Amino acid sequence: MHIYINDTKYEVSENDTIIQVADRNEIHIPRFCYHKRLSIVASCRMCLVDVEGAKYPQPACSTLVRDGMKVNTTNTSASQAQKNTMEFLLINHPLDCPICDQAGECELQDVSLEHGDYKSAYNEIKRTVIDKDIGDLVSTEMTRCIHCSRCVRFGEEVAGIKELGMTGRGEETKIETFINQGLSSQLSGNVIDLCPVGALNNSLYKYSARTWDLKQTSSISSNDCLGSNIFYHTYKDEIKRCIPKEDEEINLSWLSDNDRFGYEGIKSDDRILHPLIRRGDNLEKTDFNTISDYLIESLKLYSKKSCGIMSAQSSCEEMYLFQHLLRENNIGKIDHRSKECDFRYQKNFPTIPSFDIKLSEIKNLDNIIIIGTNVSKEFPILSIYFREAIKNNDTSIFSFATYEFEENFPLKKSHVLNSQELADCFNTSTTETNVDIDKTGNNLIILGPAISYLSNYSNILNNISRYAESNNMKLSLLGDQANTSGAWAMGIVPHRLPGGVAINKTDKSGNYELLSDTDDLLVIYNLEPEYDFSDDNKILEKLKKSKANIFFSSYMTESIKKYAHIVFPLSTQVESSGSYINTNKKLQQYEKIINPLGESKDGADILLTICNSFDSSLTHEGVKKSIRAILAKINVNNNFVQIANLDNVKNSNFLEKIVIRNPNSSNPTLRRCNSLLNTHDNDDYFSIPLDKTVSDNDKIILNENNNKLKLTIKQKKHAKPINTVLVKIGGTHKEKIGAYNTEVDL
Ligand code: SF4
Ligand code: FES
Repeated sequence: MHIYINDTKYEVSENDTIIQVADRNEIHIPRFCYHKRLSIVASCRMCLVDVEGAKYPQPACSTLVRDGMKVNTTNTSASQAQKNTMEFLLINHPLDCPICDQAGECELQDVSLEHGDYKSAYNEIKRTVIDKDIGDLVSTEMTRCIHCSRCVRFGEEVAGIKELGMTGRGEETKIETFINQGLSSQLSGNVIDLCPVGALNNSLYKYSARTWDLKQTSSISSNDCLGSNIFYHTYKDEIKRCIPKEDEEINLSWLSDNDRFGYEGIKSDDRILHPLIRRGDNLEKTDFNTISDYLIESLKLYSKKSCGIMSAQSSCEEMYLFQHLLRENNIGKIDHRSKECDFRYQKNFPTIPSFDIKLSEIKNLDNIIIIGTNVSKEFPILSIYFREAIKNNDTSIFSFATYEFEENFPLKKSHVLNSQELADCFNTSTTETNVDIDKTGNNLIILGPAISYLSNYSNILNNISRYAESNNMKLSLLGDQANTSGAWAMGIVPHRLPGGVAINKTDKSGNYELLSDTDDLLVIYNLEPEYDFSDDNKILEKLKKSKANIFFSSYMTESIKKYAHIVFPLSTQVESSGSYINTNKKLQQYEKIINPLGESKDGADILLTICNSFDSSLTHEGVKKSIRAILAKINVNNNFVQIANLDNVKNSNFLEKIVIRNPNSSNPTLRRCNSLLNTHDNDDYFSIPLDKTVSDNDKIILNENNNKLKLTIKQKKHAKPINTVLVKIGGTHKEKIGAYNTEVDL
């Protein structure tokens, strides 16, 4: 089948519209309401083209092709129709381009220049529309709105939350928020890119630069394990904004708000700008040579009882060098799982955890069981694929979690269970799960990162793996951080070298503990003791007892101030270069976007300089080559973790305390992004079962592991899960929250 556009013949398929054929062949047709990932409404009439045999010009976005159809996009009939539409659209549009953020990349401005007229017959007063307060991330200039409805359709069709709607008719048409609320979807920032004019603007970028002055550099998200592709726009060595880079395998045309606005925290007052060394009670400015010598001395002095804990937000290059430095100095206790407390599974874990299927294959699944993750909050991009699966294949999605939440896609059934119930529910030897699925279907189980925080993680992993295998399902393991897969691949675990090579002498899987015993030397890399450990009491106790505490950190916290002996000032991800392995085992490089603040340095540079003091052959190029070679050899067939003779974690009558995973503050930079936290994360709470009471209304006192915890926080009650208290807290909070998963007494 073929059609002619402007007298040239093009091959087409039956369901193509004229605009799709034109776009594929780079023929320009103006448009406003059409967007390739949204439904077609054909309301703006900007895409009118001349179709031979039709009485009037036809909208190219909604007109299906016919064999032999002859289309003209530029003849008098088409151009006059486009000119007329343009005149109507400009009737009420303000002439404020000089002060509009969209100027220079405004679709209305571009189309007006190419297809509009230089004069208008309209001499009346233009209408004005009062702006809306829709939150800290998106600002509005609603007088500029041309009612294309892209923002409304995005909410309904992609984000799954009807936050914006169109009210009124004709001249009275307005875009409004429902029940006068701010935007709360984790995908809300996408309406900024979709809006063809300057009606919906980026609050962080507003009035801070002109688009034509911006420099564009591509990068990779550091906020979740999907690894969304992004563009940073900079002006004079400052990030002005972040937009999606189209990627058909990961984020399509979209970005989560964490990725879009998550750079705000790099300018925090907490940034560490110089190398620091302890003198008495204070940390004082020093130089890199002094603290590097201190580190090398400490490694020699304390190697027997030392421990290196590294963030899985670090790059593969930092990870490779970190473990090389420690292992060359006989330090084997190296880990990235700072929020975990049950490691009995580790010997049986795959070389790297992964999603196991391509994201684009989700739309063909019949059943998906999600365990322990609020997808629309924690992995908003993934939720877009789930909505697509429901639309495309009527996929049934089931959720099992330790607290109640809403998703932006319909769930067939959701269960709220405590950690013991969760393990029992998938125990194939005793009971059947409540999920009734067709074993012959195309089915997937997804295990969220919060499950790894639980004290019976190994039991849950084991039971779910057996359940998945017996039901012919694949198992996806979602990483806690951007480079969790990289951490496993680079040997940031005590029992494996890079590439997953087992180290037999440390492989006592049943006994391994990360925080319980005392170490003489602690090297803590890009982790904050208050927020990033499975038990803040335990890590602080460990820091108190050790002889040397060495921090690599971008931000200062109370505990670093109190316990660090030296601090290496780390640049943030946007100030460094490196690579991450995403959940689909894809190695993605990112480059430095801006220069590091103060004297802070790329972690890979710091580590290489120190490594070179005992191994001068090591180079950045050599490290990259080793990483590629390691990854080329990794071959993982499935994610099943089946453990023989696994004991159950004892089930007592105490209350179990579960700290809810908070995606908005899951790394040091995100927890300092105030606009993000104000929009998505201002509901800290402590929730107790309906049948329990706490004496004081303002303060909650908990007894846990012989420690007393006092929390001054909003209280809530819940019906499920039973025997469980829930804590949700975000940002850089002052409260100590104790263990992520433990038994407590109220
Ligand atoms: S606010 Fe922007 S995206 Fe929404 S209808 Fe108006 S012009 Fe379209
Ligand atoms: S783009 Fe075709 S009618 Fe709006």
